[in-house]
Amino acid sequence: MGSAAERWAQLQSGRGIPAEILARAPVSPWGHDPADFTAPDVPEDTPSRAAGLALLGTSGTVTDVGCGGGDAAFALVGPLTRATGVDSQQDMLELFEAGADVRGVPARTVLGTWPEVADEAGTADVVVSHHVLHNVVDLPPFLAALTAAAGRGVVVEMLSEHPMAWLDPLWRRFHDLDRPEPATVDDAVAVVREQGLEPEVTRWERERPAPRSAAWVTRRLCLAPEHEPEVAAALEDIPPRPRTAATLVWRP
Ligand SMILES: C[S@@+](CC[C@H](N)C(=O)[O-])C[C@H]1O[C@@H](n2cnc3c(N)ncnc32)[C@H](O)[C@@H]1O
Repeated sequence: MGSAAERWAQLQSGRGIPAEILARAPVSPWGHDPADFTAPDVPEDTPSRAAGLALLGTSGTVTDVGCGGGDAAFALVGPLTRATGVDSQQDMLELFEAGADVRGVPARTVLGTWPEVADEAGTADVVVSHHVLHNVVDLPPFLAALTAAAGRGVVVEMLSEHPMAWLDPLWRRFHDLDRPEPATVDDAVAVVREQGLEPEVTRWERERPAPRSAAWVTRRLCLAPEHEPEVAAALEDIPPRPRTAATLVWRP
């Protein structure tokens, strides 16, 4: 039997989009729109926030890997003394900087792909990484770099299964394509354990709805905007986007 890391890589690779479908996509289905990732003024009181606050105690620094608009880091405003945002998209780092400014949090940003830019990011008391694992195929180096960068602990948040898996019935309907099973939080936890780490795992329901408009789904499905009405109708026939999330916490 293969390792948990091999299973993760295989499941994640299986989520790729066939080249002939990608070639016909009018816009890239992959990019994240910063508008979807602005951190709320009042943070949601989640198990991830509670874990980050517990690790920070009265004060400490945070590195947010795959920071987007800084939802994970800025939920820790109070004890947070300095935030480093790492992201492979420059527009996300601009959103992170603006969010830090508004909150009066000293911040710096590092543009690039984790773990390649881990040295440049340096270390922090707490490392947070929310909704990034499902973008990663080769998980061990990603996790090892999170652990090495953290003085006190790591907080990872993810959905219970690949965030696009709920659209699998629409891939069959619009592209006659069967999607393989998605990687789940259990698969990620198995890889963390394989690193010799013992994560605390909390499962919970997110309050905030994730994007699921017909326009958003049409783009994800590599379809042209004129298909939006058909996609809207098809969305009525499938179960709603799941909100079950998990928080994984470990100490280095
Ligand atoms: C789904 S968004 C989550 C953003 C934010 N953490 C949140 O929870 O709102 C994923 C973010 O991670 C970034 N990202 C994905 N893989 C990355 C990697 N290997 N290194 C750095 N950034 C990455 C993307 O550009 C995007 O901004």
